[in-house]
Amino acid sequence: MRAEGPYAYDEQGRRYADYVMAYGPLLFGHTPPFLGGLDALAARGVVYGSTSPDELALAERIRGHLPSMERLRFTTTGSEAVQSAIRVARAWTGRDAVLKFSGNYHGHFDLALQDAGASAETPHAGGSGIPRAVVGDLAVARYNDLDDVDRLLAMLDGRVAAILVEPVCGNMGLVETVPGFLEGLRARADRCGAVLIFDEIITWLRLGLGGAQARVGVTPDLTTVGKVLGGGFPVAAFGGRAEIMAMLAPDGPAFTGGTHAGMPFGIALGLRVLDYLETHADVLAQTERRARALAASIRASLRALALDYAVLQLASIVDFKFRSGPPTRSYDDQQRDDQRAYAAFYHAMRERGVLLPPSHNEVMFLSTAHGDDDVAFTAGAIEASLRDLRAKGIV
Ligand SMILES: Cc1ncc(COP(=O)(O)O)c(C=O)c1O
Repeated sequence: MRAEGPYAYDEQGRRYADYVMAYGPLLFGHTPPFLGGLDALAARGVVYGSTSPDELALAERIRGHLPSMERLRFTTTGSEAVQSAIRVARAWTGRDAVLKFSGNYHGHFDLALQDAGASAETPHAGGSGIPRAVVGDLAVARYNDLDDVDRLLAMLDGRVAAILVEPVCGNMGLVETVPGFLEGLRARADRCGAVLIFDEIITWLRLGLGGAQARVGVTPDLTTVGKVLGGGFPVAAFGGRAEIMAMLAPDGPAFTGGTHAGMPFGIALGLRVLDYLETHADVLAQTERRARALAASIRASLRALALDYAVLQLASIVDFKFRSGPPTRSYDDQQRDDQRAYAAFYHAMRERGVLLPPSHNEVMFLSTAHGDDDVAFTAGAIEASLRDLRAKGIV
């Protein structure tokens, strides 16, 4: 198996136009244009076990784009970044409870998995390996529903340490927030003294250098970033208000750590990713244009079959679900899609040389390596696969 640019190849050498893109990090494709000189990098040492000047430089560059991250710390994975942000929020507030949203995904640690989207499918703690005690400190609200948030906040009665949310959700399909939702979370966090955490692990850089927070104009207390930051190498970070981050050891009592956190490869790639994005605004605009074209052709294919599924596109993300009616607003909507149809579609697309994520909860990620030809090829495969499904009576 190998992968290059926008393509993945199976063991028989068959080529697939890839829209999984490793679930998001590969904004520049499988072989980003800035990978040269990795041997020289390795020759400087593969992991240091201490903070390096490059790490500080990358932290400052990130802060330059996300001013809300006044102080930040690197981790290896997004899961660790979110887990650490929650720990800091708990230390800062002296409280335990966390309010999050069904269908959002924040990583594979216990608390995050309960009622999560993506491939998790763990609606119940019992039997899924999530300790019941963990769920006792957790409330899971409906996305885009401030009444549900209010109901749960009233139940938690001043015990909430953090409100954790994807400001644009990419883990129950693509779901944008309704006007006022994030502002409402900001106001409620302030009112009840909780820390508002934006999980921007998918959105930062994919939606541009200012991330979702610049787009929605709401400032969180803490932010988590990852995925695109490493250009495919494992690096993530959490950070935010300096006074909250001061709870971290050695200044404060909250310990976080990681043998490979801030490892030189990840940090070097982070610097290269920012160098590239800061100097190539045109490639993101071009990718967005291709994503828009793909969404438009999917709409035309659906219309031709009299299917009124919502087709969504934001920056380089494209998504549609096998469900009639308005776009998904919450996980309740998303769970009403036709998973059997999606599974058939997945296989029909694969047969035609296009790789989609196997879970109906995921989205299509375009990269800057996907060209007009790839998009045209994919649009043709979608049209043919939908017709195939119609002929079999699936849609
Ligand atoms: C929004 C979000 N947060 C956190 C994570 C976890 O990141 P990682 O897989 O790097 O642990 C993911 C992964 O898909 C994600 O989509």
